[in-house]
This record gives sequence, structure tokens and C-alpha cells, in this order.
Amino acid sequence: MAQGLSKMGARSTGAQLGGRREAASTLGETLGHSLVERIGNTPLVRLDAVTADLPGIVLLGKAEWYNPGGSVKDRAAANIVAEARASGRFMAGKILLDATSGNTGIAYAMLGAAEGFPVTLCMPENVSRERKQILQGYGANILYTDPGDGSDGAIRLARELAAKHPEQYFYADQYSNDANWKAHYLTTANEIWQQTQGRVTHFVSMMGTSGTFVGTTRRLKELNPRVECISLQPDSSFHGIEGAKHMASAIVPKIYDASLADRNIEIATEDAYAMARRLSRNGGLLLGISAAAAVVGCLKLASEMQARKGREAVIVTILCDSGEKYLSERFWNEK
Ligand SMILES: Cc1ncc(COP(=O)(O)O)c(C=O)c1O
Repeated sequence: MAQGLSKMGARSTGAQLGGRREAASTLGETLGHSLVERIGNTPLVRLDAVTADLPGIVLLGKAEWYNPGGSVKDRAAANIVAEARASGRFMAGKILLDATSGNTGIAYAMLGAAEGFPVTLCMPENVSRERKQILQGYGANILYTDPGDGSDGAIRLARELAAKHPEQYFYADQYSNDANWKAHYLTTANEIWQQTQGRVTHFVSMMGTSGTFVGTTRRLKELNPRVECISLQPDSSFHGIEGAKHMASAIVPKIYDASLADRNIEIATEDAYAMARRLSRNGGLLLGISAAAAVVGCLKLASEMQARKGREAVIVTILCDSGEKYLSERFWNEK
């Protein structure tokens, strides 16, 4: 098992390894953590602001902006790099190449800057200004693709480059790389299980590469097959939920397994925008758009459950990132 991966897994199963951690006395253990070691173990936040009229429903969000790169994608990126190094596919002298709509790129760029490897990213030109600035801040090389082609245009360019110059690039290919979903299988799911003391009844997640949904669902279903897992996606190919994919009209990620979902809910961009405004103004939570969309999905589910049977539930979702990278978007100012 790769080193970064085992560290992430170990921190996720802190209860088991706590004794060993206390006993450790090396300087590394006692004097802080490396950036990679800080990935994962994000807090679970109660979203009481939106469940007041849903008695019996507890809604919890994994606050993924606590990761050092600011999003859930730190988990996948760190595991992809660790596994590729361990298997010899990514060695000194190679450039990490991938297609990314932003957050994975930020995670790769952060890791590259921290660990000393070059990073080239293909991304649609219309990603938010804040994301471009962050990537430039980390010193990544960015190749822009036509916004009209969406994330698929970026994928096509990365594939072309990787095929033309295999000696130059390690093509991380987050859409096909099993290390992506395994990061969540080993960390996110176990954290949710421990943080809810095994009381989670529903897991709800927006999909981009689908790594978060696939990995977390696979592990949660092992821990308790009765946990219901609900995937979310935008309701059309033209949407403003950055990082999310409308599977029916997109290049379907190789790691995606539709059969894992107990059900799938589609989310309208306008509803996600409205939820982002509502949670920031009335809940004190400045969420990214896909995180707000995830809360919309959870509330749809919770309302249906209430209407049917007035059932109790502990719903956990992933709040992929905070709103800071989207502040230049106009929807914040609407009423
Ligand atoms: C903001 C945001 N939300 C959701 C996702 C989807 O996560 P995953 O790729 O694990 O499906 C991403 C992925 O990049 C993202 O950046």
C-alpha cells in the first residue's frame, strides 16, 4: 500500500491506531504534520438551519474545505500520486498531467509545489477566476480548452497529450484511476462511520468523476448494507454546478458504477444557487455550488421521507468546498 494512502487510512481509523500514535515519540509525530498528513479527518457539521421543519431528520455535512487544498479532491489527488509513485508509474523527471475542472487541479498543484514535481492541467477556459489565480499561485502549467466543450474538451486534450508524449507525462486520469475512488473507500467512508457512531442511515453525494460517491458507498455498504446511498447530478448538460457531471450527456467516467446507487436525484442549478444564498445568509455557511446542490438533494430526500412515513434519519452529505472560489459569480447578489 502506498505511503500517503496508508497514512490517510491510518488517520481515518484513528480509534484503532490512537494508542500507537500516543506511544510514538519521533519529532515528526510530536511536531505537527506534513501537508499530505493533514488531508482527511474533516469535521462533520450539523445543518440545523435547513432541517428545522423536518423533525426526526439530522442532516450532517463533511466540511471538506478543511483539507489543505480547500476541497474534497485533496483526498483523491494524494492517493493517485501515492499509488502511482508506489507502482513506479510516476517517477522523477515526469510531469503530472490531468484534465480537471478546478479542485483536483488545485490539489495536484498544491502537492506538486509541496513535493517538488511539475504539474500540467487541461481545463475549460470558463472556470472561475479565483481557481485560475490559485493554480497560478501554486505555479501549475495550465492549458485552456474551449468552454463550449465543457470538461470533456479538457479530457480529450489530456488524452491527446498523454498519447503523443508518454515519456514526458504521467497521465493521472482521475476519471479512470481506481486510486480516486479508493481514497474515499479508505478514508471518507470510515470517517463518516466513526463520526456518526455507525448511526448514518443515508449517504448523499454529488458526482463529478464519481470517485467520492463510488468509494464512500462501497465501504459504507460493507459496514452496513442498509445504509441508503443516493447519487446526485445536474439536471441538464448545461449547468452551473462546477465540478459536477450530467452523466447522460457526458463522457462517462470509467470508475462510475451506476448500480451502486439506491437512487439518483437531479438538481437544478438555480436551486443550488438559492441554497448557497440561503445557507450563507441564514446558516453562516459559505458553501461552494456543488455543496449547496448536495444540500438541495438531501432536503428533497428528507421531505419525501417525512411525507411518506415521518421516518427518522441521519443523512450525511459531502460539502465539497467552500464558497470562496465562487465569489465572483453573480448569483450571490440575487434576492
Ligand atoms: C466542487 C466539486 N464538487 C463535486 C465534485 C465531484 O467529486 P467527484 O469527482 O469525487 O465525483 C468535484 C470534483 O472535482 C468538485 O470539484
